[in-house]
Amino acid sequence: KYLFIEILDMETLDVKKENGIGWIYLNRPDKLNAINLKMINEIDSILKDFETDNEIRVVIFTGKGKAFCAGADISQFKELNTMTAWNFARKGRELMDYIERFMKPTIAMINGYALGGGLELAMACDFRIASEDSMLGLPEINLGIYPGFGGTQRLVRLVGKPKAMEIMMTGDRIRADEGERIGLINKVVTKESLEEETLKFAAKLLEKSPLILSILKNIILYGNDSPIVDGLNMESLGWGYVFSTEDEKEGVDAFLNKRKPNFKGK
Ligand code: COA
Repeated sequence: KYLFIEILDMETLDVKKENGIGWIYLNRPDKLNAINLKMINEIDSILKDFETDNEIRVVIFTGKGKAFCAGADISQFKELNTMTAWNFARKGRELMDYIERFMKPTIAMINGYALGGGLELAMACDFRIASEDSMLGLPEINLGIYPGFGGTQRLVRLVGKPKAMEIMMTGDRIRADEGERIGLINKVVTKESLEEETLKFAAKLLEKSPLILSILKNIILYGNDSPIVDGLNMESLGWGYVFSTEDEKEGVDAFLNKRKPNFKGK
């Protein structure tokens, strides 16, 4: 199929579909997986494939080599002017928005440096699991710029204004355990157990109804961006809607009959 050929041709990514999980490996290890326009476009097209592939229930991003991702590709910055820089930021930001609103749960499996655009990508995911040696930061200020793929807004929402301002305005890197302490990282694990722990976490999501997970994610995200009265209204409206699904019937029936539910995503 056309999409499959495109996947094989990917220049900046390695992609794998396995046991319900769509894996996206950022694959420019000699440049610490720095994000260029090609990578933005390739992530976008593989996500479009994952979105329509019913076998894929969870998406995991990670990096090849020693880093998760050291940010946008600085080597291309010399050619940018106001218009092209704006356009690059807009394209990157739109990709992060797409990741954040992705129908299926997303996990960033952080295996080393997650800096700049790399941390912004991780922040657009639903969950961040990091190896203990990972270093996180938004160091753009040291280059005389600032985060442009959504970081200025997402970090504040994740960790609050004081810490977010400190991280962005000093450009200092923080360790994964500090990231966990301030609520940026869901779980820190050893380097050796990173994949195993991430798969354990993904397994919990794979047991659930994919349909209800998508509805829940949608209500959490859109509700969080709305006045609370609208978010609460979406919650109760959606709660009613859920009772028209087969998965709700299955989940309640399984509980009442003391068996494991078998959700179909319907
Ligand atoms: N863009 C382009 N290339 C990058 C890069 C980036 N964001 N981050 C790292 N690289 C490249 C380096 O230039 C180097 O390439 P080279 O071997 O051709 O010289 C290679 O990746 C390895 O990086 P290096 O700096 O040698 O590794 P290190 O272990 O000494 O340092 C970092 C690692 C992450 C601390 C350092 O690479 C760094 O500060 N990167 C930039 C982070 C940043 O500012 N990100 C925000 C961008 S807007």
